[in-house]
Amino acid sequence: MDVDVAGVEQAVSTGSLPGWDRVDQLVVAAYDRSAASEGGVVADYIPALSEVDPRLFAVCVAQTDGAVHSVGDADVEFSIQSISKAFVYALVCEALGHEAVRERVGVDNTGLAFDSVMAIELNGGHPRNPMVNAGAIATTAMLPGRTATERWERIRSGLSAFAGRDLEVDDEVYRSETRTNQRNRAIARLLESYGRVELDPLEVVDVYTRQCALRVSARDLAVMGATLADGGVNPVTGQRVVAEGVCRDTLAVMASAGMYERSGEWLFEIGMPAKSGVSGGIVAISPGKGGIGTFSPRLDDAGNSVRGQRAIAYLSRALGLNLFASVPHVSPIDLH
Ligand code: DON
Repeated sequence: MDVDVAGVEQAVSTGSLPGWDRVDQLVVAAYDRSAASEGGVVADYIPALSEVDPRLFAVCVAQTDGAVHSVGDADVEFSIQSISKAFVYALVCEALGHEAVRERVGVDNTGLAFDSVMAIELNGGHPRNPMVNAGAIATTAMLPGRTATERWERIRSGLSAFAGRDLEVDDEVYRSETRTNQRNRAIARLLESYGRVELDPLEVVDVYTRQCALRVSARDLAVMGATLADGGVNPVTGQRVVAEGVCRDTLAVMASAGMYERSGEWLFEIGMPAKSGVSGGIVAISPGKGGIGTFSPRLDDAGNSVRGQRAIAYLSRALGLNLFASVPHVSPIDLH
């Protein structure tokens, strides 16, 4: 769409998806081509996550016109985990402006694991980006609110608006992570010592742990992604959740750090902003076109869902979603 800003024709770099039938057919093909893969292992460092059925698999696409395509276990709920980081970052940017978050948290990849303490020390206490645990905890701590309950309610209602339905906490996962999140508590205390968390660090970790335990389905993830793709308006409910500029900032930081230390590799192969979570979800966004949500609990060694990555790789090429491709993109990944 061309927009006239201060007398200058502005354009955006995007296009449109093929017709409904073609998208539907390709979502089924993405599922079929990835379903047989048995690689990866289910996360167990949060004990409740290890109880999931590893065979579960879903692939969904939500278009910016509100159409939703889904195959497999699309309505099975799981805890959102790290995918919440992208949406909480958007809420904090919406509330405070992106400069405040950029200064406190940053937007650069650490090149290290999502729970790295070394990354904090190597950078003089600066968390580097809001997609790793340190940056996400610092981001959650910035959310306006007089009490932890108020801040939590802001997160729950904000993420619910992205999904277009009321999201609830998985109590079992929340309790299980609360019993085993000593590392995140240590990270929060370290950030406090560097002046990057000003509230009670344990209270902040508690809100962060709750946000990670919110239950979503692959369909929810697709709609949440489509809201970012649609400039902040949920295409199913029509509600504006955040401003256009907040979506651009969120997608940029997802592209640089959403797939952890594999973010460069992911951008090179797939070319879309995305965010993964340790329970097996991935959301990927095609600006202007829509969001992809996948769920499959078996993860690679960086914590990214194996079948989810395969399905999104296929859809990126088949639907022409790679932001860097000017001609159709075929990769060795497509051949096996
Ligand atoms: O803080 C944690 O470790 C989890 N609640 C979230 C980590 C996560 O999802 C990393 N994902 N790949």
